[in-house]
Amino acid sequence: MSASSKPSASQKETGKPSLKPNDLEAHFMPFTPQRSFKRKPRMLVGAKGMYYYSDDGREVLDASAGLWCVNAGHNHPKIVEAIRKQAGELDYAPNFAFAHPTAFKAASMLCAEMPGDIEHVFFSNSGSESVDTAVKIALAYWRARGQGTKTKIISRERAYHGVNICGVSLGGLQFNRKAFSGALMPNIDYLPHTHNLAKNAFSKGQPEWGAELANDLENLVTLHDPSNIAAVIVEPVAGSTGVLVPPKGYLEKLQAICKKHDILLIFDEVITGWGRLGKATAAERFNIIPDILTSAKGINSGTVPMGATFIRKHIYDAFMTGGEFGVEFAHGYTYSGHPLACAAAIATLEVYREEKLFENAEKLEKKWQDALHSLKGAPHVIDIRNIGLMGAVELDPGKRDYPNEMSRTMDVFDKMFFEQDIVMRFTGNVLAMSPPLIVNEGQIDQIVSRLRKALESVK
Ligand SMILES: Cc1ncc(COP(=O)(O)O)c(C=O)c1O
Repeated sequence: MSASSKPSASQKETGKPSLKPNDLEAHFMPFTPQRSFKRKPRMLVGAKGMYYYSDDGREVLDASAGLWCVNAGHNHPKIVEAIRKQAGELDYAPNFAFAHPTAFKAASMLCAEMPGDIEHVFFSNSGSESVDTAVKIALAYWRARGQGTKTKIISRERAYHGVNICGVSLGGLQFNRKAFSGALMPNIDYLPHTHNLAKNAFSKGQPEWGAELANDLENLVTLHDPSNIAAVIVEPVAGSTGVLVPPKGYLEKLQAICKKHDILLIFDEVITGWGRLGKATAAERFNIIPDILTSAKGINSGTVPMGATFIRKHIYDAFMTGGEFGVEFAHGYTYSGHPLACAAAIATLEVYREEKLFENAEKLEKKWQDALHSLKGAPHVIDIRNIGLMGAVELDPGKRDYPNEMSRTMDVFDKMFFEQDIVMRFTGNVLAMSPPLIVNEGQIDQIVSRLRKALESVK
């Protein structure tokens, strides 16, 4: 072997010529511009409470609860201990034709937090899977009821329902859909989204204008006929597409139209659940009981992958027919109701209750609103939106040569991390925030004052 073809030490370790241990190449990252990221990574190596710790030794305030999920704060000792204990006792047990008690305990405790007669839950591993499950339940429900023509799903523009083919098909973002258009599900139609800068910019909480947008559902029902429509799915507050707060009366109208035409209403509460709006669910906050409610993220404070699809009693009951040795619902994941996820969910729920974290979110909503809206007039800001502990600051994009250079919003996001020691989210021209529910007033002030500095520092 010549000197030049001799494998390096790292090649010997990995056995593959181009891979080195611990370098950044192998990981094909989700939703990330990886070439620029890998040149200048934002690397998080530890976390505690409201803070992350970066690989260059900085304490970074988490203004987004990770990805809208770490509602109880990072590395909560009680949740960590519950996961550790469960891993030592029962690492894995199938829930197909076997079971383990932790799944039943978690199911009962979680269902007890749901409004009305939402009394059953189907477990999965992510928000995307909870949405897939919801759609399959809706279709199978109508079939079980002898109304198998009800197969169409009505979703909404600017919706985000995850990244499986079902979620992308329901989703209302061109950017997420265009590469997959040939594979998207048929039989979906879309309501208009509710975001309107001309009418609602700088609304505090729910905008006054826009309830009438729900009337478009009547038009779609007329077009397709109720006998063909299985369900309407909406995020009560659209999160990932930029915190789009429902106008006053909008969700109520959607519910009334669904009821009138015997169409199921699905709330995708992957973000809005578990205290984000000051209650266990947005359904409770808005006083609307959907037929199906999807959940993930805050269900166990983001500690172990988990999704959950909650359903009302009459839906569950519709499946419980036929011979009792027949499988009632041909669906399930290897990790549905995984012991670690369930143990984490139980401990998380106890933390939410013991530390009154939903109440803290409720108490701080006004402070959060006032602090965010104090950024009105800061450079580039064209809208500020908020509800619960969710907030968005929308920027004028300016004339950047994106994606050859950073967009202005990405630039602010980047400066927030490297110069202001804050983790937040951005999507398009929107900076989005959703701090853990343990946040305090001083930390809210820090988030906002540092955001002002970052806004002032970009052109
Ligand atoms: C409303 C909603 N549904 C579904 C999802 C998908 O969840 P996951 O990323 O866990 O698959 C998300 C993720 O942000 C979401 O916000």
